[in-house]
Amino acid sequence: MTTHQDHGVESTMVASPAVEYGSFLHLDALLAATQQVPDHPDGRFFVLVHQAFEIWFELILHELEAARDDLFAGTVPDALYRLRRVAGVDRLLVTQLDTLTTISPAGFASLRPHLGTASGFQSIRYREIEYLSGLRGRGHAGVAPPGSADAARLEGRLREPSLAEAYRVLLRRRGVGDPVRLLRSGRPDSDLLAVAEALLDHDEAWAAWRMRHALAVERLIGHKPGTGGSSGVEYLRSRRDERFFPELWEIRTRL
Ligand code: HEM
Repeated sequence: MTTHQDHGVESTMVASPAVEYGSFLHLDALLAATQQVPDHPDGRFFVLVHQAFEIWFELILHELEAARDDLFAGTVPDALYRLRRVAGVDRLLVTQLDTLTTISPAGFASLRPHLGTASGFQSIRYREIEYLSGLRGRGHAGVAPPGSADAARLEGRLREPSLAEAYRVLLRRRGVGDPVRLLRSGRPDSDLLAVAEALLDHDEAWAAWRMRHALAVERLIGHKPGTGGSSGVEYLRSRRDERFFPELWEIRTRL
């Protein structure tokens, strides 16, 4: 008979109360939420993929908040630890978009009536990630109904300082007037430079997400309008060049 001991597991196990995997992860509740799907061959897949995105968005928000607070507190190594994880998840989300094009255009056309006016455009967490990172220009009209709990959540985010602001404050406190000087120094041991690059990793992955999403959408629905009521691909293309930290991109031209 094979025992844990045979695999060397026992020696590394810490004595703790018995916890069962499924209950530790609340799998019954989590997976129950994946059961309500449109009656369509791609329905379950479509719902699950979006739910998976939202779970990762939730994690990204948590890590970004912590990274912002670390930057304000001046604990740069902690911020870098968080931002490294964020970038890892960001890249995963770009790749995750590849799975969408396993739905055929005809499959999506027949799924579409089941979706009504639901669209990723209404993802509150996606918009919160934009606001928390530093992209705040366009407001959220149409994303959350005025007066709703979601609108209140987004307005709360707009009142909070962003990650971009936390970095600007950190630079000021450390006496860096113009970040181009920081970039010119190119010093590999500069923690401020390391943060700039970590922020750009996040920004670049999100820019890649926008492009990848627009391409997948074009492949699935061509130039039809979106379920959320926008022009579809044209709208998505209009957002492709948005950036969380535009100044960190601009200084590259000034080097
Ligand atoms: C079958 C796959 C998909 C199609 C055809 C599609 C289509 C679209 C379209 C046309 C828009 C523009 C708004 C509208 O009028 O609806 C949009 C926006 C958006 N979608 Fe998707 N989408 C798909 C999958 C996803 C997935 C898996 C996510 C992940 C959460 C997502 C997140 C978003 C977000 C966040 C926006 C708003 C982007 C912005 O405002 O810049 N989409 N989508």
